[in-house]
Amino acid sequence: MAPAPPSRLLDALAVRHTGAGRRLDLADVRWLDPLHLVGVAAHAQLAQRQGSRLIVHGLPADQATYAARMHLGRMIERFGGEHDLPDVTERDLHDSLLELQPLRSPADVRRLTELVYRRVAPHDEAAARALHVALAEVGDNVCQHARSIGFVAAQTIGERGLLRFAVADTGVGLRATLASIGAADDAGAVRLALSGERRRRTPGRGYGLPSTVRIITALRGELLLASGDAAAAVRTGGTAGHRLAAPFHGTIFEGSVPAGAPVPDAGQPAGRRSCPVPASARNTLVGGSAPLYQSRREVNNEVHRAVVRPNVAGDDAASDGGRPRGRGLVSVRTVRLPRLVAGRDYADELVQALGLAPGAEVVIDAGELLSGTPSFAAALVERLLVAGQASSVRVVGGPAEFTHYLQTAAGDLGVRSRLTVHDAAGAGTVS
Ligand SMILES: Nc1ncnc2c1ncn2[C@@H]1O[C@H](COP(=O)(O)OP(=O)(O)OP(=O)(O)O)[C@@H](O)[C@H]1O
Ligand SMILES: [Mg+2]
Repeated sequence: MAPAPPSRLLDALAVRHTGAGRRLDLADVRWLDPLHLVGVAAHAQLAQRQGSRLIVHGLPADQATYAARMHLGRMIERFGGEHDLPDVTERDLHDSLLELQPLRSPADVRRLTELVYRRVAPHDEAAARALHVALAEVGDNVCQHARSIGFVAAQTIGERGLLRFAVADTGVGLRATLASIGAADDAGAVRLALSGERRRRTPGRGYGLPSTVRIITALRGELLLASGDAAAAVRTGGTAGHRLAAPFHGTIFEGSVPAGAPVPDAGQPAGRRSCPVPASARNTLVGGSAPLYQSRREVNNEVHRAVVRPNVAGDDAASDGGRPRGRGLVSVRTVRLPRLVAGRDYADELVQALGLAPGAEVVIDAGELLSGTPSFAAALVERLLVAGQASSVRVVGGPAEFTHYLQTAAGDLGVRSRLTVHDAAGAGTVS
């Protein structure tokens, strides 16, 4: 059975206020999506925050089993709610891409996007990169704008070769954060959020959602963004706005991208949802279990190296950790990016660890990078060339889309002439 359009599915999340708590009757849900999982979790958290509790019941048996496998029951309980979902064994989690999880911090965003990337990459590299950028951008938005925790979940739909993922928060909503740039109501806020208006108003910001739209539609995927009583569904052919019968308190997002046909685990009965990666293939493409985002400690100890080179022939070229010593010395600092990068705070960490002096030359070594987000790229450019007053940034290697993000941000911030892009060997200027 084909899943229903997500905007209609959101209307299934209508809670009824009763003396015993808030009741959510899911009897009409024939296909449970990540949208439902994060939406129900958000309702459970909101109910608790507002001194009530959520009571979830009625989900048809096959969907209830799936919901339990995706940890919905334990999430409802965590917020003091009640449900009639069955107990299932952990073994049954084989068909989830990412079971329902809370999203509390940028570190959670990195951990969960790494997990998803690892699971999808051996199977479909392009889908893995798209998912990494989209999930990281939408997750980062929860941390930056919502003023509340969020929830994330992802699944595969085997027969249709779809990867579907969702993020929800019970925060202030789009209208609250976009009112200052003209959002008069929820529908206007959803429109502004997707259109890139933030970038036009605030140079160096506003890359996350428009890039997510571009990446998902380029893969012929679809997405839904909803907040308050407004939702917009976006696909390659255009955007359709909807008014929700059951307004959503906060912001909810779902995206889906086609991927190659997933391979179910051997020995598992063929189901409608299946594991995207055969166990034998896991981690081969992404190089074992070493973290794809570096920890802070590794950043300090390994990722950066600094040299001070003479600017004038005959000068002493002593290296003192990077500070220019006297006339004629130029501080040259290298930031070696790990395999995945995302999040504005992560760019801050990297630059802080550099101990940059004004006027320094910076080399961004992106030779190992597999996927990086546009908002990370923008934050990096801003921190280095604007706030950090580096004299120049030279980017070496890296995926074309990432270097394009750096160039776009540099253009928006008026520092384009101080950023150059080179091929992996560091030779020949690419631009
Ligand atoms: N979860 C959210 N809650 C409230 N407002 C949000 C949320 N997500 C996005 N927004 C609003 O939508 C705007 C556009 O989001 P987008 O991700 O495109 O840009 P940004 O987050 O401002 O900048 P960047 O993504 O470059 O860091 C945000 O500036 C914010 O006003
Ligand atoms: Mg953003």
